[in-house]
Amino acid sequence: MSDVKGTAVVTGASAGIGKIYADRLAGRGYDLILVARRGDRLAAVATELRAKYGVAVEPLVADLGVAADLDRVAAVLRDDDRITLLVNNAGTSTLAPMAKTDAAALDAMTAINVTALARLTVAVLPRFTAKDRGTIINIGSVLGFHFLPVSSIYSATKGYVLNFTRGLQQELADTNVRVQLVAPAATATDIWEISGVPLSALEPGTIMTVEDCVDAALAGLDLGEAVTMPSVEDAAALLAAYDAARVALLAGSRTGKPASRYSK
Ligand SMILES: NC(=O)c1ccc[n+]([C@@H]2O[C@H](COP(=O)([O-])OP(=O)(O)OC[C@H]3O[C@@H](n4cnc5c(N)ncnc54)[C@H](OP(=O)(O)O)[C@@H]3O)[C@@H](O)[C@H]2O)c1
Repeated sequence: MSDVKGTAVVTGASAGIGKIYADRLAGRGYDLILVARRGDRLAAVATELRAKYGVAVEPLVADLGVAADLDRVAAVLRDDDRITLLVNNAGTSTLAPMAKTDAAALDAMTAINVTALARLTVAVLPRFTAKDRGTIINIGSVLGFHFLPVSSIYSATKGYVLNFTRGLQQELADTNVRVQLVAPAATATDIWEISGVPLSALEPGTIMTVEDCVDAALAGLDLGEAVTMPSVEDAAALLAAYDAARVALLAGSRTGKPASRYSK
């Protein structure tokens, strides 16, 4: 067991981006607690990573959309003093026009992408701030900054991740607790089939491998980035322009009276 790194909790570690985070964090010497619904897959990942890296790996089978399961995972994050890193990665997506999106899909996106991410962050934060140590990685999406005709709900959930994470960064600015927002673009995982838009429908040159995505995201963490967009070449300049517009909109709103275009 690693005393230096501690234990990393990765949600959604049974597949895709989370599974590669688990591999890379084990490679960096973290012990792991891996969360997902599919226990057979988590067990296979755990066996592989124990053998490959010699770290301790605990599968924690939970449906983050079920209140009792979410409470159980939150309690581990609240109470387990070994935990030094949380990757809020579990997510789901349905890409369809609103009128064709059923309530179950809406509820799943809200429960996993929003409620679970926020609840697990809130659960671990008191210990991290008390120790003035710890790292939270929240997996958003480029669709947190953008929306498509089929992505209203998914984009809204990832917009929550964006604003929640950046607000938290401000709150923790004077501490040693790190919070990173990772906003991938199209990455080759099962989420596309799940969303109803197969990867084959995307332009091939726009799809990143899951290994490249996670390795870039962790390189961004090492660089101290607050926001990491793995595929965006000039992310720093574009994010600065985005922030400048955001701050200007807020400043422009502080007039206390209707804008002149609304007066007769
Ligand atoms: N792939 C992309 O193009 C892309 C782009 C931007 C952002 N992202 C974000 O990246 C994150 C990871 O997605 P991915 O692309 O790696 O998708 P994925 O391959 O479908 O993996 C999703 C993971 O989340 C877990 N999960 C889903 N629902 C869950 C639930 N109710 N309770 C517990 N775990 C649950 C799944 O495990 P079980 O099914 O075993 O529960 C799986 O391990 C998501 O937040 C996604 O929004 C992906």
